[in-house]
Amino acid sequence: MGEVHVLDHPLISDKLTRMRRASTSSQDFRLLLKEISLLMGYEVTRDFETIPATVETPICMGTFPMLKENFFTIVPILRAGIGMVDGFLELMPFAHVGHVGVYRDEETHQPVEYYFKMPEGVERSKIIVVDPMLATGGSAADVIDSLKARGCTDIRLVNLVAAPEGVKRVQERHPDIDIYVAAVDEKLNKNAYIVPGLGDAGDRIFGTK
Ligand code: PRP
Ligand code: URA
Repeated sequence: MGEVHVLDHPLISDKLTRMRRASTSSQDFRLLLKEISLLMGYEVTRDFETIPATVETPICMGTFPMLKENFFTIVPILRAGIGMVDGFLELMPFAHVGHVGVYRDEETHQPVEYYFKMPEGVERSKIIVVDPMLATGGSAADVIDSLKARGCTDIRLVNLVAAPEGVKRVQERHPDIDIYVAAVDEKLNKNAYIVPGLGDAGDRIFGTK
């Protein structure tokens, strides 16, 4: 079974609390999301393998660790996932970005995929799927289905806030996937919004409501 990593670092928790405040502006919300993504990225990449590399320092030759892999793909789930891309790219400027567009039907809360564009050879890359919210888990589980259907095997999922229902659903459908979250909240409400959550992440990032 994939692990659920709750990244409750004090800096991440503080920024998340600021994002939860309904009075936080879109501008501040975006900045906080970028900062949290960078901090989360540091932990999400902690188990990446290194290999020894020979380097000539100004003083002498030496052998030091460097990343073993060089093909990484950040996959934001549109729209809200876009808000996490810059933080990850700041850490890993060499990463590629693949986009998946998914929206939740307002009545049924079922995910509807409308866009899928990955870098060439994505199945050979290490993939980090990013989306601030894991509510019912339907969107993330479907995106992981789509990536697996393209032959991808090395996938991890990063969310800011998750509902227990969403974690359960992804774990049941994708027991091989590790999930990284800043917080697991209490529950979903009748509209399938996370409680207490932070509202509609896409609307808060892009100021659409
Ligand atoms: C939000 C969020 C996730 C999804 C989570 O996107 O960014 O993608 O809902 O819900 P789920 O776990 O129940 O599937 P939304 O559908 O609001 O689209 P948007 O990002 O374009 O606003
Ligand atoms: N999507 C969001 O943006 N927020 C929620 O709480 C649930 C789904």
